[in-house]
Amino acid sequence: MTTHSLLILPGDGIGPEVMTEVRKVIDWFQTNKGIQFDVSEDLVGGAAYDKHGVPLADETMAKAQEVDAVLLGAVGGPAYDNLDFSVKPERGLLRLRKEMDLFANLRPAQCFDALADFSSLKREIVAGLDILIVRELTSGVYFGEPRGIHSDDNNPQNEGGRVGINTQRYTSGEIRRVARAAFELAKKRGNRVCSMEKANVMESGILWREEVQWVHDNEYPEVELSHMYADNGAMQLVRRPNQFDVIVTDNLFGDILSDAAAMLTGSLGMLPSASLGAPMANGRPKAMYEPVHGSAPDIAGQGKANPIACILSFAMALRYSYDLGAEADLLEAAVEKVLADGVRTGDLMGPEGGTPVTTSQMGDKIVEALSAL
Ligand code: NAD
Ligand code: IPM
Ligand code: MN
Repeated sequence: MTTHSLLILPGDGIGPEVMTEVRKVIDWFQTNKGIQFDVSEDLVGGAAYDKHGVPLADETMAKAQEVDAVLLGAVGGPAYDNLDFSVKPERGLLRLRKEMDLFANLRPAQCFDALADFSSLKREIVAGLDILIVRELTSGVYFGEPRGIHSDDNNPQNEGGRVGINTQRYTSGEIRRVARAAFELAKKRGNRVCSMEKANVMESGILWREEVQWVHDNEYPEVELSHMYADNGAMQLVRRPNQFDVIVTDNLFGDILSDAAAMLTGSLGMLPSASLGAPMANGRPKAMYEPVHGSAPDIAGQGKANPIACILSFAMALRYSYDLGAEADLLEAAVEKVLADGVRTGDLMGPEGGTPVTTSQMGDKIVEALSAL
């Protein structure tokens, strides 16, 4: 029987809380569907810093390279805000993305019908929403050199005497590979890609537009392609989000646009993500799955966190890393059923009410729904 290896990195804040609920789902699939997961667990972020003095130990990095998939909770928190930049919790996450070369970050935003009234936008604007943001994840201003904070003493005009530098840098190859990922995904959905950059002010944006167009013209002429400046894209996302199918964009714009898209679905606690790299020996892509939200220090330790983003991230792992599409559909249907039944963590509580539940109760309800479907 095939065993599916999974490395769980709960991380900080609400990370371990939501991961406990994913464990219940994994156990359910093992017991009821006979699917064998070989689960190991390790530290990342502040939790790893506390034990090892670094936000990701080399041994953990090596394990991540070997498994079929990694599932990460969240990293960061106020206790670590004043650490040296090189050992901040977020650096652990960025190291995983970079060293595993996970260049295509899939961030779907779907509005479950039961939550349409709860979105900060009107029901008619978000109902039926189903968009996919493909964010480039291993390059751009997050990683470009030169970077740093330097003294600017030779410039008497500069009050404070310091300069902070980051570099937006993209190669044509980096743009082409993420564009291909977006076109491939569009072919399995609505067959439309909208590419976002700021070609009006950035040379890297001009290159981005030209290379995405090149991949389209040479390899995917059958997919509909449009281009949009990213600031307009942000506006269009809240004006008429249903106009989009797949959005492909760079690392920083993708970070911001996906948080904005999260609110269309009702809560940041709803949004899963998959970060995919090149195919491994088994033909499946190297992969890490994580909720889009962070460690939510304001609600950590109170049983308030919504575990759905992390549970739906595991559903993406079922689909993309384990070739268990039917099981992924089942898990997504279980989440939909629980929401339709009015079960709500605090972040989903609107004026229309519902049954308030804790993080743990939400996990239990989803497992109950799995058995009932
Ligand atoms: P955040 O996503 O942690 O929280 C933003 C707001 O959304 C908070 O009010 C929080 O309570 C709420 N929220 C987030 N997830 C929720 C959930 N599952 N259920 C209910 N409410 C939820 O973003 P932030 O406050 O800007 O960042 C906090 C820390 O998390 C920082 O250290 C940041 O660097 C880190 N962070 C980590 C990741 C990650 O690990 N992938 C992502 C974003 C931020
Ligand atoms: C995300 C987060 C990360 C990012 C941080 C925590 C490094 O905001 O995954 O969206 O900026 O990519
Ligand atoms: Mn983010």
